Amino acid sequence: MTRAFNFGAGPAMIPTPVMEAIRDEFLDYQGTGCSIIEISHRSDTFIEVIDKAEALFREISGVSNDYKVLFVHGGASLQFSAIPLNLLGLKPARKAQYVRTGVFAKKAEKEAHRYGHIDCLANGEPLDFKTLPEIDESRISEDASYVYMTSNNTIYGTQWKHFPNTGNIPLIIDSTSEILSRRLDYSKFGLIFGGLQKNLGPSGMAVVCIRKDLLGYADAGTPPLLNYETYSQEKSLINTTNTFAIYVVMKVLEWLKAKGGLDAMEKINDAKAKLLYDIIDRSSFYLGVVKNPQHRSTMNVTFNLAKPELEEKFNRLAIEKNLVALEGHRSVGGFRASIYNAMPMEGVQALGQFMQDFEKKEI
Ligand SMILES: Cc1ncc(COP(=O)(O)O)c(C=O)c1O
Repeated sequence: MTRAFNFGAGPAMIPTPVMEAIRDEFLDYQGTGCSIIEISHRSDTFIEVIDKAEALFREISGVSNDYKVLFVHGGASLQFSAIPLNLLGLKPARKAQYVRTGVFAKKAEKEAHRYGHIDCLANGEPLDFKTLPEIDESRISEDASYVYMTSNNTIYGTQWKHFPNTGNIPLIIDSTSEILSRRLDYSKFGLIFGGLQKNLGPSGMAVVCIRKDLLGYADAGTPPLLNYETYSQEKSLINTTNTFAIYVVMKVLEWLKAKGGLDAMEKINDAKAKLLYDIIDRSSFYLGVVKNPQHRSTMNVTFNLAKPELEEKFNRLAIEKNLVALEGHRSVGGFRASIYNAMPMEGVQALGQFMQDFEKKEI
């Protein structure tokens, strides 16, 4: 069997050694005679798994003990509701400021409108989200409960390298498509969250790091399964959690630690992205979607062909070479190479070689 180099934006590749280890212990987890998906979420065996997943996340990210690390239901999108429900109550104005940088940022902003007074702090839509908008820090409002950003915009391939200084207003980031791909100073943020399905594990859950002093402000009617304080009190085990997803996270984080953690991973990710951007920049055959190098994502490299009539052929031949899921998001078209942590350098090299060969033949 050949594993494809899967450039899909998510659910995305899981490192092959992790998949092999999961396969090998799937029927009998650590001599229990049961699979990891057949044991109680309250058993000592599973508690060890979730504790280890949290400990590894803390160790790798460097997040301090001032923060809770929670495994929550509903993937990233459910946090679009949970965040206003939990945090708008921080201030009487019930106001939040959102930075609009793409489809997911817009969805989060739209959802928040149901709960409070929402202001668009900066808007990348007039630039088709291909450039990040300027954030005017003087517009950050003292009576805002929080400022919300999307640190990596999966569909367009933009990524914030620097974050605004929001002073004492908590800054929240959706880092679904880049979580644990680079070193970030978590102490700058009030809350960081990410769906698991790109850099951490299977889809359907998210990890939330929330500063402890921000807990306890949820609206009275907040359902327990959306209330970060309940997750915090119950150590993420309010009900039967997705035990398999958390187990995979533990395995992926063991792998990431063995790879050298974030400093090593960030270097590899930078090198992978550079390889592709250099090919795009050297050519007039490939057109990078994001022109400003300061705004380019190391996770999602987006490009078009100068001759769009060749798109179908490019994709077909790529698949023949085992380079799969390169189509851009349905809303923007073109191509997108998602090169998350689990995509090895060899996969990116194979794509780079394919792109250069294709250009030579078709130019
Ligand atoms: C940045 C970002 N936020 C949110 C989401 C939505 O994630 P989910 O499908 O887990 O709700 C995605 C999905 O790709 C994403 O890329």
